[in-house]
Amino acid sequence: MTDKLTTNEGQPWADNNHSLTAGNRGPVLLQDYQLIEKLAQFNRERIPERVVHAKGAGAKGVFKLTRDMSDYTKADLFNGKGKETPMIIRFSEVAGEQGYPDTLRDVRGFSMKFYTNEGNYDIVGNNTPIFFVNDPLKFPDFIHSQKRDPATHLRSQDMQWDFWAHSPESLHQVTYLMGDRGNPASYANMNGYGSHTFKWVNADGKPCWIKYHFISEQGVKNMTEEQAEKTSMENTDYLIQDLYDRIKKGDYPKWKVCVQIIPYEEGLNYKYDIFDVTKTVSHKDYPLQEIGEFTLNENPANYFDDVEEAAFSPANMVPGVEPSMDKLLQGRLFAYKDAERYRLGANYEKLPINRPKNEVHNYSRDGFMSQGQNGDVNYAPNGENGPTEDPHAKIKPYKVDGEAGNYKTYDADPYSQVGALYNVYSDDEKDRLIETLKNTLGTVKSHENKVLETRMFYKADHDYGTRVAKALGLDMDEITKED
Ligand code: HEM
Repeated sequence: MTDKLTTNEGQPWADNNHSLTAGNRGPVLLQDYQLIEKLAQFNRERIPERVVHAKGAGAKGVFKLTRDMSDYTKADLFNGKGKETPMIIRFSEVAGEQGYPDTLRDVRGFSMKFYTNEGNYDIVGNNTPIFFVNDPLKFPDFIHSQKRDPATHLRSQDMQWDFWAHSPESLHQVTYLMGDRGNPASYANMNGYGSHTFKWVNADGKPCWIKYHFISEQGVKNMTEEQAEKTSMENTDYLIQDLYDRIKKGDYPKWKVCVQIIPYEEGLNYKYDIFDVTKTVSHKDYPLQEIGEFTLNENPANYFDDVEEAAFSPANMVPGVEPSMDKLLQGRLFAYKDAERYRLGANYEKLPINRPKNEVHNYSRDGFMSQGQNGDVNYAPNGENGPTEDPHAKIKPYKVDGEAGNYKTYDADPYSQVGALYNVYSDDEKDRLIETLKNTLGTVKSHENKVLETRMFYKADHDYGTRVAKALGLDMDEITKED
C-alpha cells in the first residue's frame, strides 16, 4: 500500500492538484496553507554551491587497513591490521559551476571522510600530487582567474594564463593539467593524492612526515581532448553517471592506499622543501608503501543529503595525525569550516552525513537548526561531572623560531621538477601536451604572457619550451633572452 500524502507537519493532505479558490473561477485564498507552504519550501530549495569544486559525485564505502601502522601513528584507523572504517568520498571538478560539463579539462577533487572510532578524519586532496600555489594569500586570486570574467561572465584563457604567466610556482601543476591527467576517463580511473605533507605521531610521541597516494585498481585512464569535448556535449554529467552506474551494477571501484614515510629530521633537510605543495618527494628516495585499500560499494541514497551537504575539511584530523608547516595547508585549516558555516549553517556538523559515528560531548550549544541536545551542564569548569579533556589527543610539541614576517620561502627552483615530469611523458603524451598548449595558451591576446610562460617551459626543459614556442609561432630569441 502506498503512503498517504501529508504536510511537513504530518497532517493529512486532501488535494495536491487544485488550489483553494473562492468559487470555481474565484481568486486563490490565503487560507490555502498547503499551497503557501509548498511554494515557500520550493523557494528555499537551493543553497549556495561550493565556491570551488561545485560539481561532484559521491559514494559510500569502506577502508580496510592491511598493514598495522602503529609504529608510525596512533591514529585508530591505521592501527590493527584488518580494521575496517566506514567512509564517504566526493570527486569533483574545480572551476565549473554545478551545471558545467564534467568532462572538460580540469584538476579533479578527491575528498574522503573516514568515520573513525576517534572522530572524523578527512583527506581533501586532488588527482594530482601538487598544487598551483603554495601560499594561502594567493588562492582567491588564483581561483578568480579560473572562474568567470567579471565583465563578460565568460571563462577566459586570457585571465587563466595571465595568472600562470606571473606565477612560476604554478608551472608544475599546469604541466599536469595540460597533460593527459586533465581529462580523466572516469573518476574510477584516477589516482588521488593528499598532496600536502602531513605529520604522523605514534603512541610514544615519535613523529614522521607522510604523503598519501591512492592508486586506482581500475588503472589510470584518460580521455583525449576530442573525446572529452564530444562527451561533454552528449552528457554533461558523464562522470557522475559513470560512478553511479558502476556501483549500481556491483562493479565496485577500489583504490590501494599507500604512503611515503619520511623520517622527521631527514624531512626537514630534504633537497626540496617538503612543505612546498608545488613539489613532489621522489619515490626513489621514499618509496610508496601499501597500507590498505578502500572500496566504494554504495551510492548516495539522496544526493542532496549525502553529497551536497557533505562538508570535508583538512582540519578534520584525529589523534596521531597533525598538520605540517605547509603554509597552504595552514590556510586551508581555516577556510573549509568557515565556508561550510556559510554554505550549510552553524550546525552543519550535526547533519547525518557529517556527524561522527562516535558520540560528541562538549560545551558548544544552540545556533540555527541545532538538534539532539540534552540538558547537561553547558559550561566548564564545573562540578557537575561534565565531559573532561583527553590528553591522548594532545599535539606533539614542535619547535618554532625566527622573526615574524612575510617570508618568500618557496621560490627556489620552480623548474627542475617540471622538466622531470615532462620527460616522464611518452612521445605521444608530449605531442598532446603541446597541442593542448597551442589551443589554450596559443589563443591568449597578450604576446607578453605567451612569451613569459614559454620562457618558463624552456627553463624547465629546452625541448619543452622550444616545441611550445614553435607551436605558438614565437621567436626563439625572445624565449632564450634571459638564459
Ligand atoms: C573545496 C578553499 C586549496 C582541494 C574547497 C572549498 C573551499 C576551499 C572554501 C569549499 C568547501 C565547502 O564549501 O565545503 C581552499 C583554499 C585553499 C585550497 C583557501 C588554499 C589556501 C586546495 C588544495 C586542494 C584542494 C591544495 C587539494 C590538494 C579541494 C577539494 C574540495 C575543495 C577536493 C572539494 C571538497 C568537497 O568535495 O566537498 N576549497 N582550497 N583545495 N578543495 Fe580547496
